[in-house]
Amino acid sequence: MPVRSRISLDYTRMLAPALGGGRGIDPERLDTLADRFRSIQADVDRRREEGKLGFFELPYAEEVVERIVEFADGPGQAFQNVVVLGIGGSALGATALRTALRPPGWNELPDEARDHFPRLFVLDNVDPESVASLLDHIDPSTTLFNVVSKSGGTAETMSQFLIVRERLERELGDGYRRHLIFTTDPESGVLRRLADEEGVATLAVPQNVGGRYSVLSPVGLLPAALIGIPITQLLAGAREMDERCRTDSLADNPAALFAALQHLADTERNAPIHVMMPYADALRDVADWFRQLWAESLGKREGLDGEERFVGPTPVKALGATDQHSQLQLYMEGPFDKTVTFLAVDEPRRDVQIPSLYGDIPELGYLGGRTLGELLSAEREATAAALARAGRMSMTIDLPRIDAPSVGGLLHMLQVATVYAGALYGVNPLDQPGVELGKELTYARMGREGYDDTGADAAGSDAERRVCG
Ligand code: PA5
Repeated sequence: MPVRSRISLDYTRMLAPALGGGRGIDPERLDTLADRFRSIQADVDRRREEGKLGFFELPYAEEVVERIVEFADGPGQAFQNVVVLGIGGSALGATALRTALRPPGWNELPDEARDHFPRLFVLDNVDPESVASLLDHIDPSTTLFNVVSKSGGTAETMSQFLIVRERLERELGDGYRRHLIFTTDPESGVLRRLADEEGVATLAVPQNVGGRYSVLSPVGLLPAALIGIPITQLLAGAREMDERCRTDSLADNPAALFAALQHLADTERNAPIHVMMPYADALRDVADWFRQLWAESLGKREGLDGEERFVGPTPVKALGATDQHSQLQLYMEGPFDKTVTFLAVDEPRRDVQIPSLYGDIPELGYLGGRTLGELLSAEREATAAALARAGRMSMTIDLPRIDAPSVGGLLHMLQVATVYAGALYGVNPLDQPGVELGKELTYARMGREGYDDTGADAAGSDAERRVCG
């Protein structure tokens, strides 16, 4: 199997010549986009220089990294458990990094198998059963709670914090502070105020970095470093990708190609559903992280020109080979409304030989002597070929292996692609105005002063309620 030294994007099967039957993107459309991309890149460069796209600078933030490593390798190793309290962009990155870069079942492994690094739990919801169950099973005296909230006021994270804060003080008295570290805005928000008043340690989320672009900031880096992920290598991979994405040549910029192809597929080939399908369990939560990034950044009512647009692709996560037996029938024979992005890995971290038993039984004999890694690759290649034969668009992001540089490069590439896609759709990929109303109505229902939910439903209060059962 050829082993590549860096991330590549094979988009042959997004294009019409590979699909036939009038399906796929006309390669000439990509050529005509090349000019437009040059001006998009010029605009990105300008906004980057003006400090408006802060995530681009995260891979270069050496001082922050030194501080994180110092804490993670020093006081951080006094804990057996790390619990991240956060949601959305404040939680998904840490989970993606743990799943990708630590062995499967990290939290269940014995201490020796974890090289004595702590377990990492990410409490990204307020389901009372999950919260209660986690708190039942961890000992606060050996646990560090990392409260992550850029705004410092998100209801879910603050309620988790209040529960933990009360328990910590009840069980540990004044020593509770040593079990908390806040990752939040450098100046504003309730968490910042409490940290100052109570002497809780903090790390700052740069003001120009939004939640879903924060995985390479202290939001993702602190939990990662605490469990032994080499964050300097993660950032080295992101820097390498950043260099590759500085070109304004569409054909040479992998993030730009990814964005352009997805945008063309949506707007010109009626394929607004974008499936990301890793063929590696370790990358399943990268697909989950991407789902938020793509959806929250691009799903917008209003365009940059203030006109109503109602645009945005729908990202879907799938897992190969598992979902070949769950979703593939739909992808092969359902509507032509999808693209599939495979995440492939050249060199699995481990492989398992399939024993040569029952050589005389054809249904089993062919497997003997091959490996599970070979089977997984063959299934991915076969699925891509079958989709193409059925006229379905797909592309493959190929990682040489799953390690910190590759994962850093992949995450950065997808973030950059999201910014380019925002420009192509003509929307602001950095805001999320659509989630505000739901938050305000929640505040009203929870009795927060200054909020009321009169007229909460568009249909008005006189709409007849219809319920079955
Ligand atoms: O990407 C985003 O901006 C959101 O998903 C936020 O991360 C999420 O709402 C949590 O916000 P905060 O970090 O302010 O608590």
